[in-house]
Amino acid sequence: MNRQRKPIAKPSAAPRAKANTKRGGELKILLRRVAIQKRVREVAREITRDFRGQRVHLIGVLKGACIFLSDLIREIDLDTSIDFMAVASYGKGKESSGQVRLNKDLDSNIAGLNVILVEDILDTGLTLSYLCRILRERKPKTLKIAALLDKPSRRIQDISADYVGFTIPNEFVVGYGLDYDERYRNLKDICVIDVPSA
Ligand code: IMP
Ligand code: MG
Repeated sequence: MNRQRKPIAKPSAAPRAKANTKRGGELKILLRRVAIQKRVREVAREITRDFRGQRVHLIGVLKGACIFLSDLIREIDLDTSIDFMAVASYGKGKESSGQVRLNKDLDSNIAGLNVILVEDILDTGLTLSYLCRILRERKPKTLKIAALLDKPSRRIQDISADYVGFTIPNEFVVGYGLDYDERYRNLKDICVIDVPSA
């Protein structure tokens, strides 16, 4: 796992996004839709290779991971199943409350399954550390993490993802499922949003 070098995103070279000036914060494209699609296919190929001949059970962390999971699962050439969990760690705005609350648990048992926890972004690591802790107690056969984005500079918990789409700098990003105050999840590109700190 983690065999391929992760693409590193650089926002400075990114042109402005035209579409979004009406809605408040200024947006700059960090990752274009085509690059995201290509990388999601590569990550799916890695998963397909690592679990050849087996079933994988994808658990999406709502709401941010829903778009990544939808694209990822369609590129995985294995027997698959899906479940979702919902957590709240960020309140309104950009800063984490520092506490993770489980708002929705799984629908079914994961004992003996190859579980892949699918997350939009690994930031401080608080959310995924919490989720991995409670999922491990349920005795999956394997437990891996697939994170579309990784912001290692913000890490508080010692945790890393097994599959990473892109490593990004310490910028707040929106689009492709990621929100600022519940908005912008529908953007096809991933953009840096320029809003005042909370
Ligand atoms: P962590 O617990 O700090 O690792 O944060 C994970 C969660 O914080 C993610 O699932 C996102 O919902 C949210 N988050 C962290 N960074 C960003 C960002 O740059 N944009 C949007 N949401 C973010
Ligand atoms: Mg969020």
